[in-house]
Amino acid sequence: MIALVTGASRGIGKAIALELSGLGYDLALVGRDDASLAETASGTGNVRVHRIVADLSDPTSAERIVEETVEVLGGLDLLVNCAGIPQKGPFTDVTPEEWDRVFAVNARAPFFMCKAALEPLKKSSKPMVINISSVVGFKGYIHQSVYSSSKHALAGFTKVFAKEVQPFGIRVHMISPGGVATEMVKKMRPDIDPSELIEPEEIAEIVRFLVTRKGNGTIDQFYIRRYSGLAFD
Ligand SMILES: NC(=O)c1ccc[n+]([C@@H]2O[C@H](COP(=O)([O-])OP(=O)(O)OC[C@H]3O[C@@H](n4cnc5c(N)ncnc54)[C@H](OP(=O)(O)O)[C@@H]3O)[C@@H](O)[C@H]2O)c1
Repeated sequence: MIALVTGASRGIGKAIALELSGLGYDLALVGRDDASLAETASGTGNVRVHRIVADLSDPTSAERIVEETVEVLGGLDLLVNCAGIPQKGPFTDVTPEEWDRVFAVNARAPFFMCKAALEPLKKSSKPMVINISSVVGFKGYIHQSVYSSSKHALAGFTKVFAKEVQPFGIRVHMISPGGVATEMVKKMRPDIDPSELIEPEEIAEIVRFLVTRKGNGTIDQFYIRRYSGLAFD
């Protein structure tokens, strides 16, 4: 099986990549800094690893990333959209540039990664996409207006995407963590006691749970139709 993980250079994405390597997944690791990707790769054991240096705020990067993954590793079974950037401060301070910068990575990039991955995923015997959103993809935390808006956008897209790819048997999950002990949370919420945070490995365990179950033991973004047989809205 072959997985592509964005944001694999540190934090949650790195933990997910390491967990997947333990399950035997060959890996395409995406980030902007090759040295950090190499650091992640050094913990992956015997699986094949391909590092892809790319800036996801560039709208043309998604196609190149997926093409390179398929070319080098031979296919794609699991896409994990984990890369993300924070934003902090009152909404009155937000500039159009900051809005665009945050949305480009947190909302637009996963959208176009999913689009680029569709054809290779259709060829997989067990195709899956996992998008990493956030608790603020549902709630609104003060001074996180753009970040929260971008994660709401990702959640909205993920729901629609799940429906549109259900005919191809592609399972779509979204994980929406609370505070996780990474660089990002240090910047956004220095007020939180680190001992109260979730460890990145705990999010990786959720990924392991999802990829090792058949899909009838968990609720994916498409559960209404799949499990009740009822018409869906
Ligand atoms: N930490 C939390 O409390 C928390 C809670 C809920 C959700 N999340 C979400 O979980 C995901 C991972 O967060 P984290 O806490 O692990 O953050 P992190 O430690 O800051 O890591 C962010 C990752 O995203 C990559 N990235 C950022 N901008 C990029 C760009 N333009 N192009 C390519 N890669 C880029 C970074 O790689 P490079 O900088 O090396 O390029 C890095 O690998 C994010 O989507 C975040 O919103 C985090």
